[in-house]
Amino acid sequence: MRRKLVAGNWKMHGAFAQNAMLLDALRSGTASISNVDCAVCVPFPYLFQAQQKLSGSAVRWGAQDVHQMDKGAYTGEVSAAMLRDFGCSYVIVGHSERRAYYAESSHLVAEKFLAAQQAGIIPVLCVGETLEQREKGITEDIVAEQLDALIQLGGVQALRNAVVAYEPVWAIGTGKTATAAQAQAVHKFIRQRVASHDGQIATGLCILYGGSVKANNAAELFAMPDIDGGLIGGASLVADEFLAICRAGVRT
Ligand code: PGA
Repeated sequence: MRRKLVAGNWKMHGAFAQNAMLLDALRSGTASISNVDCAVCVPFPYLFQAQQKLSGSAVRWGAQDVHQMDKGAYTGEVSAAMLRDFGCSYVIVGHSERRAYYAESSHLVAEKFLAAQQAGIIPVLCVGETLEQREKGITEDIVAEQLDALIQLGGVQALRNAVVAYEPVWAIGTGKTATAAQAQAVHKFIRQRVASHDGQIATGLCILYGGSVKANNAAELFAMPDIDGGLIGGASLVADEFLAICRAGVRT
């Protein structure tokens, strides 16, 4: 059975004093949680704080974006090697907010994914459809295009030590979670699509669900056969809520 992963996405939230309390609470709260991987993806300026607070604990940390190039004249950008310097285990790529507000294409996201992986960081590839796309019945086409861009650029092997997060855009920050059955159907589609290239990689692939996951709906989602954990936005900013979601991963 695949091990569950619960990853927080703080988005553009945080402040030193408040982070310190949250990270301390996660450090101590996860000490008694076994068989679930827990992580937090924090804004770049707080990576050092996350590293200091979480080193030696069960909680891993990471970033929410990365540049596709190693280095160079790219003012304002952060490379994967820099994230490695701060001990990042994970980096989110292709979050729907990046795709929508910064016009990131699936090809660019695939480049970022591969840059992270080459630096030894586990990329978390976000995919998902908007409400309009779901209503048009093209959810699978959208998710396939987002996934295939990576497979075309990096080969299916790129998914060997990686995470995919299915996040329907209409469920993010809206309080409207996909039902466990809706999420499972897309997760199964993703796994089958990967399996059409390589069955072993598909079986081992960690596929997270994200979009209004809370302590009171996590267990039902995580109990589905192709849901391997969650990418948690709002609820990752509240220690008790996030820890409860991590514990839901133990029971499923
Ligand atoms: P949410 O965000 O849990 O607040 O819906 C999820 C995400 O955007 O990763």
